[in-house]
Amino acid sequence: MRYSGINGTGGYLPAKVVTNKDLEKMVDTSDEWIMERTGISQRHVAEEHETTTSMAAAAAKKAIEASQLKPKDIGMIILATSTPDRAFPGTACLLQEALGIRNCPAFDISAACSGFVYGMTIANAFIKTGQANHVLVVGSELITRYVDWKDRSTCILFSDGAGALVLSAQESPGIMATDLHADGRYKDLLYAGCPYSRDNVSPYIQMKGHEVFRKAVNALGSLVTQVAKENNLDKDAIDWLIPHQANHRIIQATAKKLGLPMEKVIMTVKDHGNTSAASVGLALDHGVRTGQIKRGDLLLMEAFGAGFTWGSVLVQY
Ligand code: UT7
Repeated sequence: MRYSGINGTGGYLPAKVVTNKDLEKMVDTSDEWIMERTGISQRHVAEEHETTTSMAAAAAKKAIEASQLKPKDIGMIILATSTPDRAFPGTACLLQEALGIRNCPAFDISAACSGFVYGMTIANAFIKTGQANHVLVVGSELITRYVDWKDRSTCILFSDGAGALVLSAQESPGIMATDLHADGRYKDLLYAGCPYSRDNVSPYIQMKGHEVFRKAVNALGSLVTQVAKENNLDKDAIDWLIPHQANHRIIQATAKKLGLPMEKVIMTVKDHGNTSAASVGLALDHGVRTGQIKRGDLLLMEAFGAGFTWGSVLVQY
């Protein structure tokens, strides 16, 4: 049997940070409110010269290096983003060029904050069917340029960055289960428009925060319960929950549903903010590089975002 497994990981966060105290000077908010309601203390904001591609390339180089591979070994590039550098070509092609890789398939996927688990799931399918040996999966977002910095309900949340991993073929799992969902009926609860579209909606992020929150808690609660049931997992089997980092209260509710103590949850939301498609990849890389996640650990990665989209990947690291 052919399986896929996580080879190496990488991450990139812009150096510039905007703290809650900085935001207090820009909108009617407070450090206390933001910490209590979201768990976020700062967000990373790309400088003028930075792009979705440049951040993706920085994270991807680290992931390829950690995999002890060369760029030429990569057989496919899947890049998840809602904030591409160009309408076309895809940012995956711009990344391919930046990495000096020639002649491998490269494409973007748009699944908002679920992009990284969507990307891993697609990569897993290509590897299992023998169509690729090493797939580079990247989530990269320059989402702060879609933020209305006068809107206190959204500007406190979002952050720029990129997370990456190389998924490689192996003889044992690796990825044990994947589960993807989408429900387009909720398209108006969280969105940003395209400037040239006739859709006539704001190009800035619009969110009905409380409704998104409720749906996220319910969807993720059902999702993790189902994954545990289908894979006969008891709560002690999962070594690490690696959730999308949107809000510490959503993460706590999901961990509680699984009966997992918070010591078994990778938490980066405080310092990373919500980096959308990059968030799960960045959290994984953080867990690996801080030595928390070890080879052989069972990881449950999950995400929820605009669409709505949501999904999970169960993987032995
Ligand atoms: O990554 C994709 C998925 N996204 C998410 O998962 C985000 C989901 N939503 C959330 O995380 C939360 O809904 C928020 C953090 C965005 C908001 O927290 P909440 O507890 O749901 O607050 P709320 O929207 O119900 O607002 C409560 C109050 C309102 O005032 P009134 O109407 O009760 O007087 C808001 O105007 O808090 C007010 N408020 C603020 N106050 C201080 C909203 N934003 C702020 C703010 N500072 N930044």
